[in-house]
Amino acid sequence: MNKTILITGHSKGLGRSLTEKLLATNNIRVIGISRTASGIQHPLLKEIFIDLSDKAQTIQLKETLSSFSFDALVLNAGANHIKPPQSYSLEEINKIIQLNFTSNALLIRMCLNTLLKNKGHIIGIGSYSGVEVKKWNNFYGSSKAGLHHLLRNLFEQYRKQELKVSIVIPDIMNTEFYAHQDFEPPTQDEYSLQVNDVAEMISQWIIQPPKYVPFEIVLRPQMFQLKRK
Ligand SMILES: NC(=O)c1ccc[n+]([C@@H]2O[C@H](COP(=O)([O-])OP(=O)(O)OC[C@H]3O[C@@H](n4cnc5c(N)ncnc54)[C@H](OP(=O)(O)O)[C@@H]3O)[C@@H](O)[C@H]2O)c1
Repeated sequence: MNKTILITGHSKGLGRSLTEKLLATNNIRVIGISRTASGIQHPLLKEIFIDLSDKAQTIQLKETLSSFSFDALVLNAGANHIKPPQSYSLEEINKIIQLNFTSNALLIRMCLNTLLKNKGHIIGIGSYSGVEVKKWNNFYGSSKAGLHHLLRNLFEQYRKQELKVSIVIPDIMNTEFYAHQDFEPPTQDEYSLQVNDVAEMISQWIIQPPKYVPFEIVLRPQMFQLKRK
């Protein structure tokens, strides 16, 4: 077997598409972390069911993950509820920051030693909400901005040790991300990034790593609109 990759949020959307592409090589083992099962049946997939918005559950991963030697860590799990800051309960704010920032920081720390040993790759899925200062890009956008900043720092810190770090910054993608929101993009293709295209780009970095570091990639659809459902 070639490589072992940890992917958070492997059950749906971008993470699921990436998981399928890596498993299709039949020589990459994927450890996937989500709350629910992906339904993917493959001998090289190990699924771990954890709520990454829960600090205690995330910390408990330390022991399980210490038995693997990772070549890449794909920090992909994320969620938001687009609404004004005053509409959030304190618990919701805590969970958004935990899921979109703190759990990623904890997972990096848990996997860093093996990633350094393997001259591995950390790939973080950020968000255009973490770049753009805009109405309602509040707790989620700030958590993603924090993730971008942490990953930029890690590259500077460890590039001489040949750790690769990539930050993928998508705008709107056609996934279930909007299923529980009050807003959604129009259904026409030009209003969303196609999840298959984004997953294909990332999968190639793992399957056939380029000689350069794809450090920070902003991906935007041609058109933009989020409309109230
Ligand atoms: N879609 C967009 O327009 C868009 C734009 C910019 C950035 N992004 C970012 O892209 C990444 C992928 O999102 P997506 O569009 O593929 O969304 P998605 O289809 O909703 O998938 C999200 C994944 O994250 C997992 N997840 C969510 N909450 C979790 C929790 N509390 N604990 C563990 N796993 C959890 C989900 O699994 P379970 O439900 O099984 O737990 C699922 O596998 C996210 O980081 C998101 O913030 C998305």
